[in-house]
Amino acid sequence: MMKHILMPLFSVCFLSAPLGAFGDDQDADDTDEFDVSEEILSIKGDPEYGEYLSGDCTGCHQVDGSYDGIPSITGWDEESFVWAMHSYKEKAREHPVMQMMAGRLSNDEIAALAAYFATLE
Ligand code: HEC
Repeated sequence: MMKHILMPLFSVCFLSAPLGAFGDDQDADDTDEFDVSEEILSIKGDPEYGEYLSGDCTGCHQVDGSYDGIPSITGWDEESFVWAMHSYKEKAREHPVMQMMAGRLSNDEIAALAAYFATLE
């Protein structure tokens, strides 16, 4: 007679990683509570590098700061710009396109873009 082997069917492993530490427990569009760390805010952006990267943005956002259905992002102070980009990157702010754009930028690249767009009137 064959031996009856009980398979460990309920071997689901509940990982209890501290997700909260990474902000993954944030509700969508919870921008009031969204915070960017001092470390990120203190990165000094290189405006020339930002100008180079801005080619990905200016197909939609106008360099002359005009509004054509897409918000103007020129002349912002750098902190607000960095905050806005990270709120998309961390998905605290909803918008599929901007979440995708911000999601593939590094912290240094976001700082560079902030520095560049701040110089535009
Ligand atoms: C396909 C078009 C498109 C591209 C490309 C794009 N954006 Fe946007 N962006 C938008 C739209 C639309 C919004 C408004 C989204 C919303 O309502 O939250 C927006 C919002 C923003 C905001 C917040 C504006 C505000 O008034 O709060 C910032 C900052 C921004 N974009 C920066 C960038 C940067 C930097 C890039 C390039 C890396 C970029 N965007 C590329 C369409 C685009």
